[in-house]
Amino acid sequence: MKQSITIGSAELSNPVLTASGTFGYGLEFQEFFDVGRLGAICTKGLSLEPRLGNRPTRIAETPAGMLNAIGLANVGVEAFCTEKLPKLQDQGVTVVANIFASTTKDFVAIAERLARESGVLALELNVSCPNVSEGGIEFGKNPNMCAELTAATKAATDTPIWVKMSPEAPSIIAVAQACEDAGAEAITAINTIRGMRIDIAKRQPVLARGMGGFSGPSLKPVALRIVYELAASIGIPIIAIGGISTTEDALEFLFAGASAIQVGTASFIDPLAAHHVRVGIENYCEAHQLNASDLIGLAQAAKK
Ligand SMILES: Cc1cc2nc3c(=O)[nH]c(=O)nc-3n(C[C@H](O)[C@H](O)[C@H](O)COP(=O)(O)O)c2cc1C
Repeated sequence: MKQSITIGSAELSNPVLTASGTFGYGLEFQEFFDVGRLGAICTKGLSLEPRLGNRPTRIAETPAGMLNAIGLANVGVEAFCTEKLPKLQDQGVTVVANIFASTTKDFVAIAERLARESGVLALELNVSCPNVSEGGIEFGKNPNMCAELTAATKAATDTPIWVKMSPEAPSIIAVAQACEDAGAEAITAINTIRGMRIDIAKRQPVLARGMGGFSGPSLKPVALRIVYELAASIGIPIIAIGGISTTEDALEFLFAGASAIQVGTASFIDPLAAHHVRVGIENYCEAHQLNASDLIGLAQAAKK
């Protein structure tokens, strides 16, 4: 059965991607399986300049999840284009570049740099960062700010723009609709939710930054609810993220209305997690004589 999926103007060989920040630059996982067989990988978030990120402690475990305050450490867009992207292309890996900045101008500059390369399928905007030009409000919390950012990056490149929703927006639906109106080709959802842990012996937060992004299996019901609501509210495809570890998890999100899914924290537990989910969906499609695209939105009330 056919596994290919259409996301706006992009065609993916199958609906399984890996989530930004949980799969390095893709190359690190080649020793475990052929990463080129995934629908795509989303790179670690890329900034205009290289970043070392926060000081340790940067991660902490929680029951069925984790907290991270890595601080968006990355090699910077220039080193990505010259050192990582050519190797990914050689190895036949489909690449989505996840990008972030604290001003619209820097988002645009990163988009322009990536536009000079071939072989980037889409740009995924991480909008869970403060906009320093607007007093530090996160782009992703404000529909107008997110729409303006979407339009500005879209104008800078022919590469499709996907916008990654912050679950902390007062109305994710309003933000997603504004991004759709501004020309986004897809919405990805969701990024982490802020959480924390306290070390009771030291009587202080475990993470050096105090708080961090909460991810992993315990995020799944929240992410699923958001994806289900978004699917009923917007016209562009949704790529679901949040606690997906197994084929069954992925099927829930596809039935909720996602056109594709991203495997995140699960890759830290099993580096083959995304591979297993891809094969699992393929097997499910064979067993039920359905194409992958037939799975999208089967659980939406309107389709019953
Ligand atoms: C260690 C770590 C680093 C992350 N870095 C990024 C990043 O650079 N950009 C981004 O958009 N999301 C980043 N995320 C968020 C994930 O891509 C994903 O949205 C989130 O973890 C929820 O999915 P999961 O529960 O499957 O991990 C990161 C997550 C983790 C755990």
